[in-house]
Amino acid sequence: MTLVTYLADHRLWLLRTPATSYALGLDPDDRPRHVHWGAPLTAEQVIDVPALPHHENSSFQVRGYGELEGPGFGAPSLRPRYADGGAGVEWRYLDHEIEGGHLAVRLADRHHPLEITLHYRVRDDTDVIERWTVLRHTGESGPIELERCDSAAWTLPPLPDVRISHVVGGWSSETQLKREGLPYGETVLTSRRGTTSHQANPWIMLDDGTAAEERGEVWSAALAWSGSWRIAVQRPPFDAVGFTGGAGHDGLRVRLAPGETWRTPVFAGVYGTDGFGGISRAWHAYTLRHVLPHPQELRPVLYNSWEATGFDVDLDGQLRLAEKAAALGAELFVLDDGWFGRRDSDRAGLGDWQVNLDRFPSGLDKLIEAVHGHGMRFGLWVEPEMVNPDSDLYRENPDWVLHMPHRRRTTLRNQLVLNFARPDVAAWAHAWLDRLVAEHEIDFLKWDFNRAFTEAGWPGHDEPDRLWFDHVHNLYALIDRLRADHPHLRVESCAGGGGRADLGILARADEVWPSDNTDAVDRLAIQHGYGQVYPARTMAAWVTDSPNPLTGRSVPLRFRFHVAMAGVLGLGGDLPAWPAAELAEAAGLVALYKEVRPVVQHGGLFRLGAPDDPVSAVQYVLGDHVVVLAYRVRTRFGHPAGRLRLAGLEAAARYRDEGTGQVHHGAVLLAHGLHLDLPAGDYASTLIRLTRLA
Ligand code: GLA
Repeated sequence: MTLVTYLADHRLWLLRTPATSYALGLDPDDRPRHVHWGAPLTAEQVIDVPALPHHENSSFQVRGYGELEGPGFGAPSLRPRYADGGAGVEWRYLDHEIEGGHLAVRLADRHHPLEITLHYRVRDDTDVIERWTVLRHTGESGPIELERCDSAAWTLPPLPDVRISHVVGGWSSETQLKREGLPYGETVLTSRRGTTSHQANPWIMLDDGTAAEERGEVWSAALAWSGSWRIAVQRPPFDAVGFTGGAGHDGLRVRLAPGETWRTPVFAGVYGTDGFGGISRAWHAYTLRHVLPHPQELRPVLYNSWEATGFDVDLDGQLRLAEKAAALGAELFVLDDGWFGRRDSDRAGLGDWQVNLDRFPSGLDKLIEAVHGHGMRFGLWVEPEMVNPDSDLYRENPDWVLHMPHRRRTTLRNQLVLNFARPDVAAWAHAWLDRLVAEHEIDFLKWDFNRAFTEAGWPGHDEPDRLWFDHVHNLYALIDRLRADHPHLRVESCAGGGGRADLGILARADEVWPSDNTDAVDRLAIQHGYGQVYPARTMAAWVTDSPNPLTGRSVPLRFRFHVAMAGVLGLGGDLPAWPAAELAEAAGLVALYKEVRPVVQHGGLFRLGAPDDPVSAVQYVLGDHVVVLAYRVRTRFGHPAGRLRLAGLEAAARYRDEGTGQVHHGAVLLAHGLHLDLPAGDYASTLIRLTRLA
């Protein structure tokens, strides 16, 4: 399959993925214009696509014209400002390069020394199209100010109606899926917090209001960036809907110096006709193949001590937990917060990354040896980008934090943000982390980030807004370097729960902690939203104590396990306090998870209902193997659970239910479903395994 074709006579580029096409062109004035994003088109067909309407009162109809516009009347994707007071771009085409699935179209401003290269990458194993933009100041004097530089703008074909899907939330309530009519005008999804955020996540899905879970056209995009971001969606009354997205929130400015290059993160897009489920599976497969550092791996079952011990950690307590965790089948033991400095609570010690010898008198190695002795890997919590004012680090380097002259330094969770954009701060962090990992046998870091930026200044620096970008670049470089130097190291991305989950961090994290909320019922909704774009293979999920320490809700062990088994199963409770019968049941469920884990972590996900439905389920399919996890939170009117229609099966094949031994026709499972045998009462759940017969 030819991935990229240039149709010289028409000044069009046609990009192909296995099931979709994308096309862009140049208008007579060299302005890049959107042509097509959707169903597969041949070269002959794409030439026929009618030009988008062009209104006289708008020289740049935002996103109707242009892959990345200059100043127009909508949210601009690109807004350079020049020393002479001018702004925007008058495009001039220079040349293009095609290398396999990578297309780079090089353009420049007609007058100012600004070169703009639009990048596209398509592959033959995914419908996801990666896009990013590179700017270069080609002059010799005077900076060019960038008031906005998005990665890409995407345009949809005309639709009778438009609906947007996205996630919203907060601490302990991340990734709540919203699906609602898109208002006319502009809708802005954004984070101004310096990180991806709990409140919004940088992806969207758009459809015409009729798409369903497994059918209908959906257009989606996701930004690979872990700092502040903005996606601006525009719905004009008469023209096509489009959106533009990139790093940084509105109002940030960056000055491009002569000779300097500015590269945006990837803003990837995918179109599909198999509904929201199809789009989710496309994102999952893309993440598993092209984003994650070790996609082929199975994530281990971890035990984390946080909910059991809080800050009250010491050698004996952790040894006890490690023994219990190993007995249950845990494969990775993670010592959370409290092991360093004077970290008796969240009020002190952050930044002082020396082992607390009162708690671990001979250092960490005794614990690490014991953990390894139990056959588990060892992981450790760190929060490198933060500092407590009550720490030696802060007392010695009060300038290392984000701050502004004459402004108070607002603490959140009693901590301040280190200015990771500063090369000396980034070097300090690399030095201690590298030493920590080199000197101890640490297999895994839980990398936390517990507060947003405030007073985000950089006194003495002539371009303080750079910190919003360079913080993330330096964070990425640091993790990349640690991973390169310590190839066995695995990383979990955590930010007070799910505040840093995105395709950017997933290129250097093996999994994400989606929420500090471990209540199984709340998790169903959090996981439903998380999984819209990010795969189960990255979704850490612990079984913790009942009643849940956050919500006070009591939920049976089996239901808690079945919810956590839909992702990367972990354990997080006070195991020594669990009754023997529950420990035995838990060990059985951990063992069962290990059997189904390849299917859950690497299979295709089919969502059979939503968490609020009377019965909901998730189904994973990998090769001949099918795993279904079904949940009924609340029993109603004494009605039986009924039948659950499965998805994604081969109609002509037969499937054996490994629980009952019964053999079912795929066609019947698809059309009529499977009788769900749920226990009576609330919080009823079950796990079903099916095998396709030869
Ligand atoms: C954050 C994390 C928790 C835990 C604490 C430790 O809140 O999300 O899982 O690690 O920090 O302080």
